Amino acid sequence: MTKVLLTGGAGFIGSHTCLALLESGHQVVVIDDFSNGSAEALGRVAELAGLGPWRQTSAERWSGAEPGGSRLTLFRGDVRSSTDLDRAFEAADLGGGISAVLHFAGLKAVGESMAQPLRYWDVNVTGTVRLLEAMGRHGCQTLVFSSSATLYGTTDTVPIPETAPLQPINPYGYTKAAVERMLTDVAASAPGWRIALLRYFNPVGAHPSGRIGEDPNGRPNNLFPFLCQVASGRRQHLEVFGGDWPTGDGTGVRDYLHVMDLAEGHGRALDVLQAEPPQLLTLNLGSGQGHSVLELLRTFETTNGLTLPYTVVERRPGDSAVSVADPSQAERRMGWRTRRSLAEICRDGWAWQSANPQGYSTNKPQHTPELIGTQHGS
Ligand code: WQD
Repeated sequence: MTKVLLTGGAGFIGSHTCLALLESGHQVVVIDDFSNGSAEALGRVAELAGLGPWRQTSAERWSGAEPGGSRLTLFRGDVRSSTDLDRAFEAADLGGGISAVLHFAGLKAVGESMAQPLRYWDVNVTGTVRLLEAMGRHGCQTLVFSSSATLYGTTDTVPIPETAPLQPINPYGYTKAAVERMLTDVAASAPGWRIALLRYFNPVGAHPSGRIGEDPNGRPNNLFPFLCQVASGRRQHLEVFGGDWPTGDGTGVRDYLHVMDLAEGHGRALDVLQAEPPQLLTLNLGSGQGHSVLELLRTFETTNGLTLPYTVVERRPGDSAVSVADPSQAERRMGWRTRRSLAEICRDGWAWQSANPQGYSTNKPQHTPELIGTQHGS
């Protein structure tokens, strides 16, 4: 069992990875500023992992209550704060410190990054600098970084290998490319660094229990959470961005992977880093299968016995026709591949949405369904 730190571990990918790591026997410390995550999510992770009752022990700290100390501890904190980072590392120092960090904390909305580039550079890049400095202070040189397929930009390469050129087209993608460059330089600067750059394609779905899932702030930018909110009546209809793409049915094709497959991929990457000599590992995490917007919508309808209203509108700026991973490296280097189907993604996503129509917050203002014809937000 090793002790790992998850930055942003109370968010969508982080909370599902936290559960997978607990189930693999690790001890987990989380630092999260709750800008896109919640303590409630980790309370449910503790419940699913069979830990003791989840409780808040101070203004900034939550933990389970197992005898002998909790295997899950959460600190409210900002990765840009050295003080907050040291508090999390020092809490774990008892009985052996943090042996690896999984770095999820970051902003990830493409449209928002166009409007707020400085905030994206500060959180995503400066935050990683502060984290690496703290890792140096605490003698930790193993890092799994949450990177993204957005780095590849609007490439025509199908499927996309890790060797494809990096051509980001928005500030969010540029910050991911900058962090990958930073980590490459750090790995080359001193012996001992074990780093995995995991480039996610389109993570979707939820844990099959329906207890944890994706809880976007405000109007979802991404297809799957929007589709789930249409299914629950929180949104009136889906806008399909473009029906004239050069694809089978004219709608955009993406590589959707179940969030639990992605979570397990992080566990495998951690195992490989800890078992092998120091290295920098760059891997695409995707299914290798492409599905169009309409294929996903039809699968969601068939799997859950629902009918989802949609209208086809103009293309979204910055979109590409097809983005599908070549995941063969991940299979070769860590024996990982996706195991869950598109139907399981739709089943599990709906289990979460239908049981949690307002996400984790029970006190969100009652939603007023949008009127048809509302202008599409960014
Ligand atoms: C998927 C498809 C849209 C919304 C982005 C980021 C990427 C990653 C995942 C962080 C496209 C269409 C969407 C809607 C639609 N995030 N669509 N109506 O753009 O592939 O990737 O999120 O790492 O980095 O770039 O995901 O879910 O926004 O879009 O028709 O309301 O659904 O045109 O074809 P995307 P998405």
